[in-house]
Amino acid sequence: MSDEFRIPPTVVTGWRCLEELGRLAAPLGRKALLVTGSRAMKKTGLANRTLGLLKAAGLETEMFDRVEREPDVTTADEARAFAHEVGAEVVIGLGGGSALDLGKVVAGLYNETAATTRFFTEQKVETMGLPFVAVPTTSGTGSEAGINGVICDRARKIKASIRDGRFMPMAAVVDPELTVPCPAEVTATAGLDALTQAIESYISIHATPLTEALSIRAALDLATSVERAFREPENQVARTRASYGSLMAGMALGNARLGVIHGIVHPLGVRYDIPHGLACGVLLPVALGYNRSACGTKYAVLSSIFGGDAAEFTRGLLERMKLPADFKSFGVRAKDFEVIAEESMPSGSLKANPRKVTKEDVVEMLRKVC
Ligand SMILES: [Fe+2]
Repeated sequence: MSDEFRIPPTVVTGWRCLEELGRLAAPLGRKALLVTGSRAMKKTGLANRTLGLLKAAGLETEMFDRVEREPDVTTADEARAFAHEVGAEVVIGLGGGSALDLGKVVAGLYNETAATTRFFTEQKVETMGLPFVAVPTTSGTGSEAGINGVICDRARKIKASIRDGRFMPMAAVVDPELTVPCPAEVTATAGLDALTQAIESYISIHATPLTEALSIRAALDLATSVERAFREPENQVARTRASYGSLMAGMALGNARLGVIHGIVHPLGVRYDIPHGLACGVLLPVALGYNRSACGTKYAVLSSIFGGDAAEFTRGLLERMKLPADFKSFGVRAKDFEVIAEESMPSGSLKANPRKVTKEDVVEMLRKVC
């Protein structure tokens, strides 16, 4: 039996390391496509700063700036067409998980012709796409370190990963300074996503010593930084630790997979438009309680990292960051529990959970938080 461990070939970290982007992107192509969301990037001037850095390195850059929160396959199709129109040779994703995932899919499917939605199920990726460089501006999904591109098809009520080994970013540029303008609520929910990913990858049935090392350090960094970054957005130490935490959790999950929470939050989120990180955070105490008996000593390790019972710590974190402890405000209907549970079942995340999960177990977990 063998385990494969994959991470991006180049990872650059450090305050203001965005300055390295041109040097990293230039050897990958002369014509770049910058994929980003519009509002936040324009407000902070980051898109212009990035265009300037690429220009200084000799790249000609076109921008696709219509990435929405939790991007839809229709946006992916549009961006893929635009990449061909401009003759892109390298794709750069700049933003939160949404921009990174969309950019990754645009790059990865560049030489494919089928519509994006077909890659959820029936269509396999058969070609090598364009090189992709990821520049995260939140500490959350860890998309900069892995091969998953999470996309929605709202018309078909699907939210799932399109993934292929060839989707791995050629470089990740993880500059914590870019997360400073992140609004407090986004800092909190993105941080909870990262923390959930650190925990789920740690207790996953596919965890290895390599991934566990990353998961544990990620859990420690996130547990000590997310709340601080939420309260003190300009705190350099907190922002740096949160950036490392989400990066390492991303590296771990890409190799060890996740667990029941990530199995549930996709069908739940796409139906009720619940932000991904918040959905993860709300389910975290319940799922930790559910998994406790199947974690062996890992539950105790997590509790020692958090300085108290792991489930209680995550519950307290939600409260201290003024986030709801349940989904009541989203109006999740009891009659939907069954179908959400049904749709969770095929998820690879759910299958990696340390304790076997049945449809009834998912319904029971939902009952506790809805
Ligand atoms: Fe996540």
